Amino acid sequence: MATISRRAMTQLSNAVLPSAMSSRRAYTQQSPSDSSLLQLKKLEGKVAIITGAGGGMGSAAARLFAAHGAQVVMTDTRKEEGEKIAKEIGPNVVFRKCDVTKEDDIASAVDFAVKEYGKLDIMFNNAGAIDKVEIGGGELKDMDMHVYDKFNSINVRGIVAGIKHAARVMAPAHQGVILNMGSAAAVMAGKDIGAIYSMTKSNIPGITKVCAFHLGKYGIRVNAIHPGHTPTNMLVELFNLSGVQTNFEKLQQDYAQKSHLKNKINSTMHIAKAALFLCSEDSATITGHNLTIDAGLTNVMDPTPYQL
Ligand SMILES: NC(=O)c1ccc[n+]([C@@H]2O[C@H](COP(=O)([O-])OP(=O)(O)OC[C@H]3O[C@@H](n4cnc5c(N)ncnc54)[C@H](O)[C@@H]3O)[C@@H](O)[C@H]2O)c1
Repeated sequence: MATISRRAMTQLSNAVLPSAMSSRRAYTQQSPSDSSLLQLKKLEGKVAIITGAGGGMGSAAARLFAAHGAQVVMTDTRKEEGEKIAKEIGPNVVFRKCDVTKEDDIASAVDFAVKEYGKLDIMFNNAGAIDKVEIGGGELKDMDMHVYDKFNSINVRGIVAGIKHAARVMAPAHQGVILNMGSAAAVMAGKDIGAIYSMTKSNIPGITKVCAFHLGKYGIRVNAIHPGHTPTNMLVELFNLSGVQTNFEKLQQDYAQKSHLKNKINSTMHIAKAALFLCSEDSATITGHNLTIDAGLTNVMDPTPYQL
């Protein structure tokens, strides 16, 4: 068997090592630098639109996105509340009235962002509504199709129009992030909240995947978040209208007690933080993803009919 001399060995390693070292250097250069690992402002220089931001989760996201350096265009049908919140958050947040059931309103909010700030980086299609008349489940066979159309136009068509108009300005720029608001009731049937809300929201996982595929070629990411119960005006109003007397604090306590994750219940800021992750470079290769944020709510099957 041929043996290799110590001298030949040294010559060989001298020939191989520099290239191994340079490829190691190249690898290191592609790795995140310490400064990006510790990046505190995750949306510095970004321009974001958030729909339905005159209330709970949307306004929490506006607050967090602004704190992370984004210029935020908050939109909602509720002009007074929206303007008040925008002013309170600070100078890098403005409010525009926008009804997501009106395509022209969405188109004009997008055009406003581009005209004022030069681009659109983030579109958070958050606006949504629940059918207050069908609390307790409602009877599907008696469903009023006009009521269905109304909620479909907010929860589904409003999101699709948001995706369309964001894509209109993001595609030529070959970049952008779109985030859609679903619900735990989009990934499982919403037992106690009625059929229409759950049926309309259940479109969101599919729409998100289809749009992530079609917009991927432009470098645009599309994801969705699906919160479980999160005390906001929406839930408080819903229960009060159905005859359950409750308030924000009581809802938090009651849901925390029933939570599958001991004493944990979503706050609007938990949802905003998930939105921040999916709208920032931290999730640069995540697209077509449906993220539940629900303290384990959608993680369990219904119990057996027996008490075991
Ligand atoms: N609160 C929860 O438990 C929960 C759980 C899952 C998903 N969601 C979803 O989260 C989103 C935010 O809800 P929230 O809990 O913060 O309630 P919220 O009522 O505080 O916020 C919803 C906002 O959407 C706005 N809106 C309604 N119709 C609109 C329209 N046509 N055009 C523009 N804006 C419109 C409302 O004015 C309101 O400000 C909704 O899509 C909701 O379905 C809420």
